[in-house]
Amino acid sequence: MKIVIKKDKKIAARYVADQIIALLKEKPTSVLGLPTGSTPKGVYDALIESYKASEVSFSNAQSFNLDEYLGLEASHPQSYAYYMRKNLFDFVDFKATSTHIYKGDTHDAQKECTDYTNRIKAVNGIDFQLLGIGPNGHIGFNEPSDTFNMHSHVVTLSEKTRKANARFFNDLASVPKKAMTMGIGEIFSSKKIYLLALGKEKASIMAQFLLSDEIDPHLPASILHIHPELTVVMDKDAACSYQNA
Ligand code: PGA
Repeated sequence: MKIVIKKDKKIAARYVADQIIALLKEKPTSVLGLPTGSTPKGVYDALIESYKASEVSFSNAQSFNLDEYLGLEASHPQSYAYYMRKNLFDFVDFKATSTHIYKGDTHDAQKECTDYTNRIKAVNGIDFQLLGIGPNGHIGFNEPSDTFNMHSHVVTLSEKTRKANARFFNDLASVPKKAMTMGIGEIFSSKKIYLLALGKEKASIMAQFLLSDEIDPHLPASILHIHPELTVVMDKDAACSYQNA
C-alpha cells in the first residue's frame, strides 16, 4: 500500500485527477470505477478543468459507478445518476453509452445486479477504481457485516450510513433504505485502487483502517490491505489521527 498525504483537499483531489489523466494518456480505453458523495467532487472538478484545457479526453474510456439508491429514478436530484451528470458527465466527453450505473428504478434489482456484474466482466474488469470511505468503513455500499459480499447485490443501508447521507436529503425519512452496490469482489479485482479520504470526519476511520492489517468484514475497507496496487490519499485532516497515533 502506498500512502500519500497532501496539505489540503484541493491538492489531494488534483493529485488523484492527475493519476486518472496519466492512465488515460497511457490507455485511452481505460475503464474507470467512480464513486459519488462529497469526496470525489474535487477530483471531478479537476478533471473538468483539465478536459477544458484539452489535457484529457474520455471519449474512448468507460465508467462504472460503484452504487445507486434503490427506488430513485435517474432524474431524481439525489440519485447517483443525477450526481454524475451534474458533477462530471455533462462537462466532459464520455460517450453516453460508455457510462454505466445501476438503474435505481428497476423492478428487478437482483437481475440488475447480475447484469451489472456481467457488464464489468465483459470489459475485463476495472482499470482504476476511485473509492471514498464511509465513517463506518464501508466502500461502495458494502456495509459492515459478518461476511464479505463478493458480487453486485442489494444492500439494506445501515442507520449510520443513512444518517451520514441525510445531509443531501430533506430529512432522514427521505433517505432510501436500500441500494445496489458493486461487491467486494468487483472492487477488489480492479487493477489499481485509489482510496481518497478528506476532512476530519474521516480521521477516526482512517486511523482504524490504517493501523491494523486485520481483514474484517465489519470494516469492509480492511480487505484493501491485501490489494497489490492500493494507494491511499488523504488530506492532513483525514490523516491526523493516523499520524498522531
Ligand atoms: P462521502 O461518502 O464522500 O460523502 O463522505 C463516502 C462514502 O460514504 O463512501
